[in-house]
Amino acid sequence: MSEKYDQIRPIVWRNGALELLDQRLLPARNAFVRLSEAGAVARAISDMVVRGAPAIGITAAYGVVLAARARFSKEPNAWRRLIRDDLALLAGARPTAVNLAWSLERMTKVIDRGCEENPEGILLDEARAIHAEDIAANRRMGELGAAILGEPGAVLTHCNAGSLATGGYGTALGVIRSGYAAGLVRHVYADETRPWLQGARLTAWELAHDGIPATLLADGAASYLLDKRDVRWIIVGADRIAANGDVANKIGTYNLAVSARYHRVRFMVAAPTSTIDMAIADGSEIPIEQRASDELLCLDGRRVAATGVNAWNPSFDVTPAALIDALVTERGVVERPNADKLARLMNLNAFTAAD
Ligand code: MRU
Repeated sequence: MSEKYDQIRPIVWRNGALELLDQRLLPARNAFVRLSEAGAVARAISDMVVRGAPAIGITAAYGVVLAARARFSKEPNAWRRLIRDDLALLAGARPTAVNLAWSLERMTKVIDRGCEENPEGILLDEARAIHAEDIAANRRMGELGAAILGEPGAVLTHCNAGSLATGGYGTALGVIRSGYAAGLVRHVYADETRPWLQGARLTAWELAHDGIPATLLADGAASYLLDKRDVRWIIVGADRIAANGDVANKIGTYNLAVSARYHRVRFMVAAPTSTIDMAIADGSEIPIEQRASDELLCLDGRRVAATGVNAWNPSFDVTPAALIDALVTERGVVERPNADKLARLMNLNAFTAAD
């Protein structure tokens, strides 16, 4: 696959600090913020400077490096105990994406290894490994997902599961990039994705950057699109996948899965195994982030909703496994995911079964 489609890097460790592409400003401004303190990293995650499940996990890992530097320089004998507060702060930044807890667990294992020297170097190595592995997983998912697309045609995606939501290349957009490079994706429809407009601002920006033909639609137009146009696949990412294959992803994903089944359009979820939470039996146990009602009541800081009305603003929904035709991970493709197939996937290093 040509490097041409893997150019965007939203998370950069440079000269001892973390730089994040501020996704709230895109596409109008392409600006990085520089962070050198763990509290600022946690705030950047809550405030959506960085978003997308794998990107949040990678960011938090670098946040631990910054926390260790500060704690060790002040209290070299007690840093391992004191850093627990920073880990808790980072873990609480957003609740749904399990990649956050997964990456903090990896960093905690390094902390617990018990070295008495300055821990910054070994923690930075681990954060860099998490970052590099994510990009490699996305490239692999791109190949595996593209291989099952079948006849060339159009696809629909929701939110942003691209380079911006990961270390680079993307999960759902990774499959779309690989599919486009192979001539299997001809056109991409992107939901605008209310209320943060990740589709209109971020997915559209990434596709335009790569020269992949794309058309934006209002979220509510998706069923009509499936009825009127020949869409082959709906391809989305995930924030957390339960052990039975239920998938939490951006609010509106469930609508798409129901509509896909009605219209006989196939539905693909692309996510690394770091998004699979085997500790959660099914989707009903996934914590769903509720965000401020002002995100719906206001536009550009100005109230647009009628006075006196309230808003319900869950940031994610849960799509039942029964509506998913293919789960694409870096370890392999699981067709029609269920508890048995996910257990096998998570126990095997190389998984090829697609029964
Ligand atoms: O609220 P966001 O923008 O963090 O939500 C992001 C999504 O729902 C993505 O689809 C998901 O995190 C997968 S990103 C590869």
